[in-house]
Formats: sequence, structure tokens, C-alpha cells
Amino acid sequence: MQTVNRIATVRDAVRAWRKENLRVALVPTMGNLHKGHMSLVAQAQDRADRVVVSVFVNPLQFGPNEDFNNYPRTLEHDTELLATVKVDLMFAPPVYEMYPVGHENATRVEVPDLAGILCGAFRPGHFTGVATVVTKLFNIVAPDVAVFGEKDFQQLILVRRLVADLCLPIEIVAGPTIRDHDGLALSSRNRYLSPGERNLAPKLYESLTAAKQRIEKGDGDYEAIQKSGLQALEHAGFKPDYFAIRQAADLAPLRAESRDLVVLAAVRLGKARLIDNVRAQVIERH
Ligand code: PAJ
Repeated sequence: MQTVNRIATVRDAVRAWRKENLRVALVPTMGNLHKGHMSLVAQAQDRADRVVVSVFVNPLQFGPNEDFNNYPRTLEHDTELLATVKVDLMFAPPVYEMYPVGHENATRVEVPDLAGILCGAFRPGHFTGVATVVTKLFNIVAPDVAVFGEKDFQQLILVRRLVADLCLPIEIVAGPTIRDHDGLALSSRNRYLSPGERNLAPKLYESLTAAKQRIEKGDGDYEAIQKSGLQALEHAGFKPDYFAIRQAADLAPLRAESRDLVVLAAVRLGKARLIDNVRAQVIERH
């Protein structure tokens, strides 16, 4: 595996692959890699001849009171993991390579509407930071395909939207959420949890699953389902930001004809902010 921290070196490698007509995939990450990330890498390897994994903790997507400085950075471990599965190139740039004039003054990519709802309402500027860095990575690597996790469902929908709006010739592939044995979605931020909080954390997934079951049994009172979801989270000991049922395709509020839904929630638990979601299908009844 080639380990690269300069944009120009990535471009040289990709140019050489293109000359051989090889298909290139990108998996963007912030490092501290776990089985969730590695499942995306496996999908990328299935769909392309060469795989680039970026490891970059992007300052532009963290708020002033968020965990940019404490975010786990484990580059040696990440390099080993990626080399073991034979990733072709790891791109781990320093901040000044990505933001030479400082991230505060960088040109930004704004995705209206989608960036301001759900998590965006609680993390102002976060999705503009994500959209900007993802666009930069797309321009640096120019992949044929890029893989994102459903774990960050709003991010996935936002990336699909920016690719469509900016006419980027990149196929976006979604990877399913990889969970621990008790249902908790794997996340780098789970390491902020104390042992007691870690025991409680699977109740987030349980509350989403309970809502999914109600929907799939034919309960159409979405307001009531959202309300009891929120109450269940509070009762379990979380500080919920939201518990919402939306259309899966675009995260728009539900309409009478909506069938493919997603139930999403974000909570605070101790020092951690956890997010998770499950899909739900409305079964047609005649
Ligand atoms: P990060 O949190 O490192 O996640 C990188 C990718 O891994 C994202 O597409 C995310 O959805 C996916 N992922 C995380 N946990 C997962 C799990 N348990 N199962 C499956 N996939 C999982 O998301 C980011 O980084 C950043 O915002 C980034 C897109 C890299 C832009 O900076």
C-alpha cells in the first residue's frame, strides 16, 4: 500500500491507473478505523480495481465546542489495517495540505435545506464542512465510485444530492450499518462512553427498532410514534436531540404516499453524541 500525504502524489497515482483503464473507488474517513469502515473498504474493492482510503479529521465540520482536538487519531493502527486488506493507497494529508489558507477562509460547498435539518439543526455548519471536504476529495481523487455508510444517513443523502447538483460523474454506493453484538452501531465516538453509558447505549437502536415495528405493523400515527420514541430515549437516560420519521430518499417530511421511510435519532450520552437510524417500509394494504 502506498501512503501519501500530498495531493499531487495522489493525482500522479490515479493518472497512472487511468492509463491502464482501471476503475477507481474512494472511501472517505476520519480514521480510527473499525469494522464499519472496513466493510465500506470491502465494498469498494468489490466495485473497483483500485481503492483509495482517505484519513483526514476535517476541522471544517467540527463546531467550536465540539471534539476536533480530542477526536481519536490512530494513524499507525489505521495504516496497518488498510495494508492488511491490501488497499492500494491511503491519503492522509495534514490540515495545511487541504486548507492552505486556513479552513476558516476556505471556499465552501453549501447544500441548502438538507444541511439545516435533523443533525444540521443541532450542529450549525457541520454539513457545509462535510460537503466541502467531500467535494475536495472527489476533485483530488476523481473516483468512479465512492462508498459511504448508512450509519450517517443524512450525510449519505447530502452527498448524493451534491453529486447530482454539481453533475459529478461519481457513483455513490451505500454500505449497511455495522453493529456490535448488542445492536450499538460501531462509531469512533463510542470510546467516549463510560462502561455504564456503554451498557445503556444499545437502547438507542432498540427505540428505533420499536418504531420500525410499529410502522411495519400498519400504525400510521407517525406523530405518536415519534413522541413515544423521544420519551423512550429520555426514559432510558439519554438527552435526545431528535427522534424523527422521514422519507428515506430525501429526508423530506412524510406524505400520504410515502412508503420507503427512515427512522432517525440523535442523543447525547455523557461526553458522546450518538446517532443511528433504521429503514422502515409501509406495507400497502388493500
Ligand atoms: P467517519 O465518521 O470516519 O466515517 C467514514 C465512513 O464510515 C462514513 O461513510 C460513515 O458513514 C461510515 N461508517 C461509520 N460507522 C459505520 C458503521 N458502524 N457501519 C458502516 N459504516 C460506518 O463520516 C465521516 O467520517 C466524515 O464525515 C467524512 C465523510 C470522512 C468527511 O469528513
